[in-house]
Amino acid sequence: MRTENEDLSFDDFDERINPRPEDCDFDRIVEAAITRRGLLGGMLAYGSFAALGTTLTASSAKAAADRFAFDAIAVSTKDAITVPAGYKAEVLVRWGDPLWSDAPEFDHATRGTAASQERAFGDNTDGMDVIAHDGHLLLVVNNEYTNRKILWGNNPDAKAASDDDIAKGMMAHGVSVVEIARGEGGWQIVTDSPYNRRITPQTDMALTGPAAGHDLLKTDADPSGTTSKGTWNNCGNGMTPWGTYLACEENFNGYFSSSEQIQDQKPVTISPEMARYGISPEDWGYGWAKIDDRFDVAKTPNEPNRAGYVVEIDPTDPASTPRKLTALGRFKHENAEAVVNNDGRVVVYMGDDERGEFLYRFVSNGVFAPGADTDDLLENGTLSVAKFGEDGTGQWLDLTPESTGMASAAEICIHTRLAGSAVGATTMDRPEWIAANPNAAEVYCCLTNNKNRGVKPNAGGDETPVGGPNPREANKYGQIVRWWPADGDHTAAGFTWDLYVLAGNPTVHSDMRAGSGNVTADNMFNSPDGLKFDDNGLLWIQTDGKYSNTDDFAGQGNNQMLAGDPVTGEIRRFLVGPRECEVTGLTWSPDRRSMFVGIQHPGERGDSHWPEGGDAVPRSAIIVVTREDGGLVG
Ligand code: FEO
Ligand code: CA
Ligand code: CA
Ligand code: CA
Repeated sequence: MRTENEDLSFDDFDERINPRPEDCDFDRIVEAAITRRGLLGGMLAYGSFAALGTTLTASSAKAAADRFAFDAIAVSTKDAITVPAGYKAEVLVRWGDPLWSDAPEFDHATRGTAASQERAFGDNTDGMDVIAHDGHLLLVVNNEYTNRKILWGNNPDAKAASDDDIAKGMMAHGVSVVEIARGEGGWQIVTDSPYNRRITPQTDMALTGPAAGHDLLKTDADPSGTTSKGTWNNCGNGMTPWGTYLACEENFNGYFSSSEQIQDQKPVTISPEMARYGISPEDWGYGWAKIDDRFDVAKTPNEPNRAGYVVEIDPTDPASTPRKLTALGRFKHENAEAVVNNDGRVVVYMGDDERGEFLYRFVSNGVFAPGADTDDLLENGTLSVAKFGEDGTGQWLDLTPESTGMASAAEICIHTRLAGSAVGATTMDRPEWIAANPNAAEVYCCLTNNKNRGVKPNAGGDETPVGGPNPREANKYGQIVRWWPADGDHTAAGFTWDLYVLAGNPTVHSDMRAGSGNVTADNMFNSPDGLKFDDNGLLWIQTDGKYSNTDDFAGQGNNQMLAGDPVTGEIRRFLVGPRECEVTGLTWSPDRRSMFVGIQHPGERGDSHWPEGGDAVPRSAIIVVTREDGGLVG
């Protein structure tokens, strides 16, 4: 029997545990929406919803056609990958594939053990990059979480039947580093490469930055508050200018529980600070506290403060200790998009993916110089949060003890959400990936959806009014906002913004839910999530949306990947994933002739056997997309 929690998303689970006050002032919502109709024309780059029509001209459409090296494809509901004519997609590596020859092949009957999983590619592939090093190509991939119903699907009730089952789930999390090579038979992983590495929730890490050593980070196991064990729920990623990999800890809260009711432990009251991050007496079904006291907040109440960071990993040194970067704040990190500003300072843009949470920016104190020491750059700097105006302007608000009223920089780095609330940041429609245009000082962010927009405040009680870059109440489809730093300076306080696209369904709706003018019956999608620019300046958009293909989502098929032209606004569908998957994670080979795409949780509700087909266990996997003529793919 499944618990009620099993079918809930992380956000829904948080809301059940920490219910928000209802605040549905219908008049206010309607008034705001009507006002937006007047304002939105100027805020929406490519036309508004259907009534305003499209602003794409014939000449701009032709320019766009020249930039896209493929013909758009139709939606699909097949249990297969679909790519345009002239392209092919092949599987590179799947959940459970061994990275070393002393580990067994994936066992479809048992789905492996904790020991086999620790020596194999993790589950639920997400953010990734390919790093060229010393003649080797290293694929570094986040393994965000595990599909419990599939992982434990060999048990009669699809639940953990032993401690080893729980540990198997734990070891399916983290990061996989695997060397890849292209041979006669195409791309393959290099089994037994000395670079292969699994980073798991048990890997030793260092805590760095302003919060390192703070009392809130100290535990019995680490009285110094400067070391930590492991990383989990790593969602999107980033790359530093010096070639290290950034793995972003997102829904870290869902793994903690409290034994106080069942083992007469010291009672733990869920503090407002814990509640803001969704820490609750119940976990999300993983059961980690049963095998590791760190995840029992009755025993180790500070352990949750040691998660929710960006983790820096050096994949070129398998013995290196990953570093948790507290300077970049603690929240449900989606990805970390780093750019080098004109003056050499390193700027990192980051989203906090929860309904009504914020968009952040970090600016290093020091400047990046190739070859110079970089250790300090992501340890010392200024963390800011975005406030969007209704008029297409915005400001970055610095989070300091003075501006927030909080005691120290360390506390701001630990309770970052509270700091954002204190300065009045704009509550957003779930910021997912952020991508900076390599050819212009402009930055894009997916706001995936938010059923609470205009309906409920966020977990901190901040209002979520309809307006600005979040223009639709109970937002089902999502949008992509972009901004231009003042004077092209990524460290400037000011910026201007517009909406690159409002996703929607023009075949079902004729109001704002139809989407912007660059959304048509032929390219529609919902819930943009993954986002990355290629070297050519095309913006690739991956979706993590509803795949019912009915009602509001009729005609949108399975989750997909599209490419957008930032200049003309044209968006074309490039790839459709198998059933019940999310498409997330994107990178390229150095020669750009191979594109690597992540397919996460096919069959999460039981309707897929991808990639092996037949009655095989569905497995998250990374695919390689190439052109049949060997040409560039992005
Ligand atoms: Fe793991 Fe916000 O996606
Ligand atoms: Ca995501
Ligand atoms: Ca998502
Ligand atoms: Ca996902």
